[in-house]
Amino acid sequence: MPDLAAATRGRILFGGDYNPEQWPEETWHEDVRLMKDAGVNSVTLGVFSWSKLEPHPGAREFGWLDTLMDLMHDHGIGVVLATPTSSPPPWMGRLHPDTLPVTEDGRTEWWGGRQHFSHSSATYRRYAAAITEDLAARYGGHPALTMWHINNEYCTFDHGDQAAAAFRRWLREKYGTLDALNTAWGTAFWSQGYDSWDGILPPRLPHYMKNPTQVLDFRRFTSDMLLECYVAERDIVRRHTPHIPVTTNFMPLWFGQDAWRWAEEEDVVSVDLYPDPRDPLGAQNGALVQDMTRSQARGPWVLMEQAAGPVNWRGVNHPKPRGLNRLWSLQAVARGADAVCYFQWRQSRQGAEKFHSGMVSHAGEEGRTYQEVKQLGAELARIAPHVTGRHITADVAVLHDWHSWWAGAQDGRLSTRADYPDVLRAWHRALWEAHLTTDFAHPEHDLTPYTVVVVPQLYALTDAAIDNLLAYVRGGGTLVCGFLTGIADEDDRVRPGGMDARLRELFGIRTLHEWWPLDAGETVACEGFRGTLWSEEIEAAEDAETIPYQGGELDGLPAVLRRGRAWYVSTLPEPDALRDLLARIAAGAGVRPVLDAIPAGVEAVRRGDLLFLLNHGREAVTVEVPGSHRDLLSGSTMRDEVTLGRYGVVVLQS
Ligand code: GAL
Repeated sequence: MPDLAAATRGRILFGGDYNPEQWPEETWHEDVRLMKDAGVNSVTLGVFSWSKLEPHPGAREFGWLDTLMDLMHDHGIGVVLATPTSSPPPWMGRLHPDTLPVTEDGRTEWWGGRQHFSHSSATYRRYAAAITEDLAARYGGHPALTMWHINNEYCTFDHGDQAAAAFRRWLREKYGTLDALNTAWGTAFWSQGYDSWDGILPPRLPHYMKNPTQVLDFRRFTSDMLLECYVAERDIVRRHTPHIPVTTNFMPLWFGQDAWRWAEEEDVVSVDLYPDPRDPLGAQNGALVQDMTRSQARGPWVLMEQAAGPVNWRGVNHPKPRGLNRLWSLQAVARGADAVCYFQWRQSRQGAEKFHSGMVSHAGEEGRTYQEVKQLGAELARIAPHVTGRHITADVAVLHDWHSWWAGAQDGRLSTRADYPDVLRAWHRALWEAHLTTDFAHPEHDLTPYTVVVVPQLYALTDAAIDNLLAYVRGGGTLVCGFLTGIADEDDRVRPGGMDARLRELFGIRTLHEWWPLDAGETVACEGFRGTLWSEEIEAAEDAETIPYQGGELDGLPAVLRRGRAWYVSTLPEPDALRDLLARIAAGAGVRPVLDAIPAGVEAVRRGDLLFLLNHGREAVTVEVPGSHRDLLSGSTMRDEVTLGRYGVVVLQS
């Protein structure tokens, strides 16, 4: 299968979504001039072009796209060509209401926005296949084509009648018999036993709480159905162009999609990333998504969308201060991206996103945004030959699994405050701040490449995953688990004893008596630190080493347990404490930070033989880097130390 290298050919792809159909043709010529000046070498065309390409059912209007493909090619700009299937034309909903999705409370999602398609609709799928087929036939041989971009941010749900029929088919395949389904769903509770497949529905709005396993299966089903839509289009383009890589752009840490599973079906993994410029943890949160995407890609990946300035979908939308766009773009490259792209090239004058930034803002060529984009384009071109295709080696893996997230994110929990993504972010942040390079992995992946494996929270684990964790520790690995791990099986059935017995034994937990969630603002004292969010009443086994809770109801009981190389943390330590704990455990296992004595707020990443240093602060800092190095960005040589200004970056080659 072709990979990203087939598209990059030694360059870092730089560019973005290009929506020329919103502009008169004169602007296209202005666009290519500005693109060339800025070093843009890749544009994504056609993401939302369906009504332009097929203005009436079955019609084909390719002339404008022919012109653009040629124009791009004439200027040496590659095209990532999108299938337009995420936003069907209005005629489709009007003529075929069966293509429209339905919400859990029975509302139809109408045209007039975007992403108003039912993944289960045979009509939608037929039209999507037809336009994909014709695009692939027409442009498969075009020299500008570098990559296929299927749909856009698959993220829809459907609770309508077609989805109900498809859900039943999916369940029949999974369970075979109604008895098996009734057992898995625990339908003995609240008189929910099914006597017929026809009685089964998507989890539509009930009077009171939903059946959790029904919800869990529906989430699995939705991810699978969207994946079927993706695979159908991928197979069409692949048949025409087996040498051109295929991708679809993920949303970061998106709830609705098992991205481990999806990534297996892609030639190239890409993601859209929009940290809030005002978020003091923007860099940490960005790094999490970058590490996760790199791990899904098992190598270089594509930053398909980011914003050059403000987005327009938060309550208050801030621009990026000078230098931040460069910093976060180079952060992505440091963490494995071989493409730095944006939504979108030119800021729209109309439509719902006219206040969302573009690489060319309303201020145009003279605007700061474009000027900074241009500088970045030149810098990416400079470092590209040394960077593209290079890998990152991590000694630490963080485990993450969508099924566990889905199982845990249900009504009827002991605390809605113990939100999984927050917990995941807190643990990853601790590793980031300890300057430990981390991959992500699925709990059933081979963990032997890692010295330390960290599980912030895996509420539901399969037996295979538990076996994998046990084998990992037996084989010499160090395992650190956070609270609410190993509680349920894959049907969301609580394991006997409230936590899997093998895991309890591993960590030295004799009895898990009660969970004690903490309220907002409430903390719990532990020896040497304070815990937040959660605490547990645990009786330790005799041979477990422990760090106790101090005072309160849990006084003297273990907050942290350790048995050999297995650690269990029953609360969420405050950020500095979690960082120090993980740094200590990693050091004990022989894992060193990227550099010693890195100032706070500086990020250090090794990619191939390069060392990236990024200053996320607004104050200048000096970093000790023994030896002599050349900074590929500035061309200057540095010895033993490097000073980084506000948002400063160096890419050092020794
Ligand atoms: C993404 C989407 C783009 C654009 C962007 C705005 O979710 O793929 O089309 O809407 O957000 O931030």
